[in-house]
Amino acid sequence: MLKIENLSKSFGNNKVLDNVSLQINDGEIVSIIGPSGTGKTTLLRCVNYLERPDEGKITIDDHSVDTKKATSKDIHGLCLRSGMVFQSYNLFNNKTVLENVMEAQIVVKKRKKKEAKERALKELEKVGMVDWKDHYPSQLSGGQQQRVALARAIAMDPSILLLDEPTSALDPELTQEVLQTIRSIAADGMTMFIVTHEIEFAKSLCDRIIFMDEGHIIEQGTPREIFNDPKEKRTQEFISFLLPQDYQTFL
Ligand SMILES: Nc1ncnc2c1ncn2[C@@H]1O[C@H](COP(=O)(O)OP(=O)(O)OP(=O)(O)O)[C@@H](O)[C@H]1O
Ligand SMILES: [Mg+2]
Repeated sequence: MLKIENLSKSFGNNKVLDNVSLQINDGEIVSIIGPSGTGKTTLLRCVNYLERPDEGKITIDDHSVDTKKATSKDIHGLCLRSGMVFQSYNLFNNKTVLENVMEAQIVVKKRKKKEAKERALKELEKVGMVDWKDHYPSQLSGGQQQRVALARAIAMDPSILLLDEPTSALDPELTQEVLQTIRSIAADGMTMFIVTHEIEFAKSLCDRIIFMDEGHIIEQGTPREIFNDPKEKRTQEFISFLLPQDYQTFL
């Protein structure tokens, strides 16, 4: 479970997140959509403390961090409970696929090398990349690199997986391959918080969609409620901009 309470973040005078509160329950898959520059990435990065929030409280499972008085131990505990997957994969180029998936397990989780290797092989098998274990990232397609990044994240046993536009750097074919991998991770019961522009994917996979605009959550609901019958004018405008008219008639 992830609970965000009254989270705010500014960069200089630019208030990017304004008193954002939300909750994601165990096993739930929630997607966040909204115009560019709205704070979606910043929100995910705050949960993982890649950005330090100015105010608010973040809870994952039974671990709460009040950003005003967080110690480094509190923050470390929070980071351990979430896994982040970026648009740009962020693999270590000088390490093999296997080493990439083992590294954080050894450094952060303090697992023994043998245990980390076994776990890495298991997760690489799951994402269909075990045959590539001795290759380097530069020898892989973007889709393959992203599947390795997914294996690396789930090998850390996060309570929640945070995915920031995991397919936006990929061409359509590779996008489908990565989305399929995300589906199979979801089918294993992983809780997920996903920023995506893949509407079909969000509709078919997510339990809930959150629409964000200018640092605020405007509206949230089931994919059907948000895509077919949005209540708020700003959501309506965004959805109609997102989906061409002829497409909307099929919804
Ligand atoms: N490190 C930073 N320093 C200064 N400003 C930042 C920083 N990161 C983000 N911003 C600003 O915060 C705002 C929100 O950015 P963010 O990346 O969270 O938006 P987004 O909703 O993810 O957009 P997109 O859909 O384009 O990815 C933007 O105005 C951006 O310029
Ligand atoms: Mg973003």
